Amino acid sequence: MTPSFWKNRRVLVTGGAGFLGSNLCHALAAAGARVTAIDAMFEDGGANPRNLDGAGVLLVRGDLRDMELHSLARGTEVLFNLAAQTSHMGGQKDPVADININAVAQVRLIQVMREAAPEARVVHASTRQFYGRPLYLPVDEMHPVNPPDANGVSKWAGEQYWLLESRVLKRPVVSLRLTNCYGPRLRIRDARQTFLGIWVRRLLEGDPFEVWGGSQLRDLAYVDDVTEAFLLAAEHAADAGVNGQVFNIGGSPPVSLLELAHMVIAANGGRGSFVTREFPAERAPIDIGSYHADDRAFRRATGWAPRVPLEEGLRRTLDWYRDRLADYL
Ligand SMILES: NC(=O)c1ccc[n+]([C@@H]2O[C@H](COP(=O)([O-])OP(=O)(O)OC[C@H]3O[C@@H](n4cnc5c(N)ncnc54)[C@H](O)[C@@H]3O)[C@@H](O)[C@H]2O)c1
Repeated sequence: MTPSFWKNRRVLVTGGAGFLGSNLCHALAAAGARVTAIDAMFEDGGANPRNLDGAGVLLVRGDLRDMELHSLARGTEVLFNLAAQTSHMGGQKDPVADININAVAQVRLIQVMREAAPEARVVHASTRQFYGRPLYLPVDEMHPVNPPDANGVSKWAGEQYWLLESRVLKRPVVSLRLTNCYGPRLRIRDARQTFLGIWVRRLLEGDPFEVWGGSQLRDLAYVDDVTEAFLLAAEHAADAGVNGQVFNIGGSPPVSLLELAHMVIAANGGRGSFVTREFPAERAPIDIGSYHADDRAFRRATGWAPRVPLEEGLRRTLDWYRDRLADYL
């Protein structure tokens, strides 16, 4: 990132008390930006009041579906749009709530932004999920979209509405299709945010964790690298070849879940154990199997590259939670 770009810049972060949003808020504030975070603080997602401790950002508690947004949006120079319903099983159970947050509320925010901050650049947090079960690996941006679940449909719709703002109204918009992210401020209470969350909890509590399947490949992205991707996307959002584009964001070279299980135990000083089990029947139909991203387009456009090796990221993550476990259970 370019610190001078962020000094005194007015930035709005939706989903700012969640996992990725809060890490981004810390980085933005440290770079001198004036940051407002919006978050509904939903119990079933990654929101945690502790996530913004010490960040020095203004947190406004509200739901994008019905809160007053004009006064918050006015004067915004950069919008990082991370608020979402992210649970795949949750989206299957209640697809109406899922699409209301991930698509209808997005259109509401778009309309407010047209009036209150027509010049603002937008970086939208999107997901690899809606590629579905990959037809080939690594997955590039030309891979067909084939959502495996309701959450994939709603996230795709939300992204497409934002891209229209670039295509039709020429607003600088970039959408980042993220792989599985991990690191400090992740929800570790359970597996709602990612399987790795509950692995971390079990390891730190001295209990065995479960590996479902084990041969699936993942290219986990450490949160500091994801934060850097968001910042660079915003800095380059008005560039030709970036404005209006979608970019895949990957992370470390792919490893199988079994390899990852051994790595996370090694990162815990060799302490810990796991059991393997079949992929649960109710989840199997929405499982995407192996995934890793071809993110060369974003690297070329912005100079971004992930810098934190998986072993190091796992170690940093475990160390971070050791002193804060109670705040995240
Ligand atoms: N973490 C990942 O591995 C990952 C992977 C792919 C895509 N993403 C995307 O990145 C974004 C951030 O994900 P995250 O992992 O930080 O999730 P998170 O659950 O930690 O953060 C999302 C935040 O949005 C808030 N929120 C949800 N609905 C809201 C609403 N209607 N109004 C206001 N706030 C609302 C939640 O309370 C939560 O704090 C999401 O858009 C997600 O789809 C994340």
